[in-house]
Amino acid sequence: MTSNTSHPPFHPADAQLSGRLAGRRVLVTGAASGIGRAIAELFLRAGAQVAALDLRRPADLPGEASRWLACEADITDPQAVERAVQQAADKFGGLDGLVNAAGIANTDWADAVSLQDWKRVIDVNLTGTFNVCRAALPALRAAGAATIVNLSSGQGLQPFKQRSAYAASKAGVIAFSKSIAMEWAPLVRVNTICPGAVDTPMVRGGYSADALRAQVGPRYALERIGEPQEIAMAALYLSSAESSFVTGIVLAVDGGRSYH
Ligand SMILES: NC(=O)c1ccc[n+]([C@@H]2O[C@H](COP(=O)([O-])OP(=O)(O)OC[C@H]3O[C@@H](n4cnc5c(N)ncnc54)[C@H](O)[C@@H]3O)[C@@H](O)[C@H]2O)c1
Repeated sequence: MTSNTSHPPFHPADAQLSGRLAGRRVLVTGAASGIGRAIAELFLRAGAQVAALDLRRPADLPGEASRWLACEADITDPQAVERAVQQAADKFGGLDGLVNAAGIANTDWADAVSLQDWKRVIDVNLTGTFNVCRAALPALRAAGAATIVNLSSGQGLQPFKQRSAYAASKAGVIAFSKSIAMEWAPLVRVNTICPGAVDTPMVRGGYSADALRAQVGPRYALERIGEPQEIAMAALYLSSAESSFVTGIVLAVDGGRSYH
């Protein structure tokens, strides 16, 4: 699958990252693949220490092993999540940030989706996000000036057909995040990112290359899908002191799909 234009004129690879997350200790879920992986790698380049969590232990991250940790946990299992959070806090001496990027897709029609699949999507995308936020809260509060970034989706704002379970789970992430942004302020800021279509295994599994090309142009002002690093740059901003007066927002990073 390819996007229908070449690289954007300004690419995240060109960004000045040095020290932007210096001293930040961040747990990233879904860090074995796609957007979560890009976030883990970008945050390391920006000076953070990163705990990378996924269903299976994520591949080694670049750089000194003292600056990262790979954890294996299913976010639908609260005890496994608590163990992983503890492991990360023990290794780094605390936690300042959390990014919830683990998630699964579903493209069934609403009248055909099985109850089991419906429940699984809600369980991973919404309850899983809740499990990790709640497990990390004591460490985040103890750190102070902490951040949570939750990955919702453009589907949580303006759903397509064949996205009922996924869109419902992602709209839930938006409402949940706004609610805890109020509850957990001022020590913890909580923001949500709604990506448009991004070139990851999740999207490659849901569209044929032809369908992607045919659908993307009319939907996206920028006439292309995104790259994982472009979502990671937004997560960096929301996890750094650069966004110190920002909480409870829903940031669409979607090439202009949802604003019109
Ligand atoms: N790619 C897109 O176009 C797009 C658009 C909008 C939102 N999103 C959201 O961004 C996030 C990342 O998506 P992606 O495209 O990188 O997907 P991806 O499939 O490449 O990566 C998702 C990762 O989450 C992990 N995961 C799934 N279930 C898990 C569980 N129960 N416990 C722990 N880890 C689990 C997977 O193993 C995988 O490594 C997801 O929340 C997704 O819904 C993606």
